[in-house]
Amino acid sequence: MVTGGGFLTALSPFTPHSPQAAAIESLFIAALAICGAVFVLVAALIVVVAVRFRARAGVDPVQVEGNSRLEVAWTIAPVLVLAALLVLTTRAMDASDPPVDRAPDVTIIGHQWWWEARYPSGAVTANEIHIPTGKALVFRLESADVTHDFWVPELGRKMDATPGHPTTIWLEADDAGTYVGTCAEYCGVQHAWMRIVVVADPPEKFAAWERHQLEPAARPSAAASDGATLFRTMACIGCHRIGGAGGPSGADGPRFAPDLTHLAERATLGAGILANTPKNLASWLKDPQSVKTGCHMPNTQLTEAQTASLVAYFEALR
Ligand code: CUA
Repeated sequence: MVTGGGFLTALSPFTPHSPQAAAIESLFIAALAICGAVFVLVAALIVVVAVRFRARAGVDPVQVEGNSRLEVAWTIAPVLVLAALLVLTTRAMDASDPPVDRAPDVTIIGHQWWWEARYPSGAVTANEIHIPTGKALVFRLESADVTHDFWVPELGRKMDATPGHPTTIWLEADDAGTYVGTCAEYCGVQHAWMRIVVVADPPEKFAAWERHQLEPAARPSAAASDGATLFRTMACIGCHRIGGAGGPSGADGPRFAPDLTHLAERATLGAGILANTPKNLASWLKDPQSVKTGCHMPNTQLTEAQTASLVAYFEALR
């Protein structure tokens, strides 16, 4: 779990916060211990044999051929070690990755270079995924362009998001908190800035969040109304949606860019590259390419006044 600042760098499979992640961690530790013991044994035997049977002046080496006991022992021992690893592995697979027997609770769509999250209720968000604690959830993974890989190590296993080939994983959080993940498959120039934030809340708090996502954006104040007009009349609305203001819609329709309906409630911009502050949002809007080179948001040549209006509008989208 993540506390305090710098949270986007804390990414560890050694602090599991779900039964699924705990099973994977235990398997890793057990396999490491078994393989470590084998390594120590083999290395020690090599040293003993090299020292004890080294060439000595005047002593003719004795060649020993065939020793049934030894041969049986070094055949059986690896079989037992591998059998133990097989049992541990299938147990971990059963705990972390059982067959999926129901419709997904969340559908994640990987895009260059951000994550879209859709809930069966119709709620849609980007990059910051909310879930209820204490419930094993089915995540369906899709891709809109190339192969990405969804990985939140503290909560579950890693899985590719491949175009045209949906996959599923189980994800769960024992405790409320913020968990960080990342794209784990090279997917283009901004692969490194495809961070995932999973916010796990107690079920009532999650339900309130989900209901709120379905509401349209806050009505723009007088100060933000210029920004609202710019959003509708400039290029923004071609790719981004704001509930109540417009944009590409439909539950399964194409979404080219993050839904901004409740943008002000998110902690980061650009899938984690910037903290969501008015100053950062202004530099992002003015020149997205200088912030996140190669991203699919063009520079729309905003004036200072237009940038300020859009920032006032977006930072009030709650
Ligand atoms: Cu998406 Cu790497």
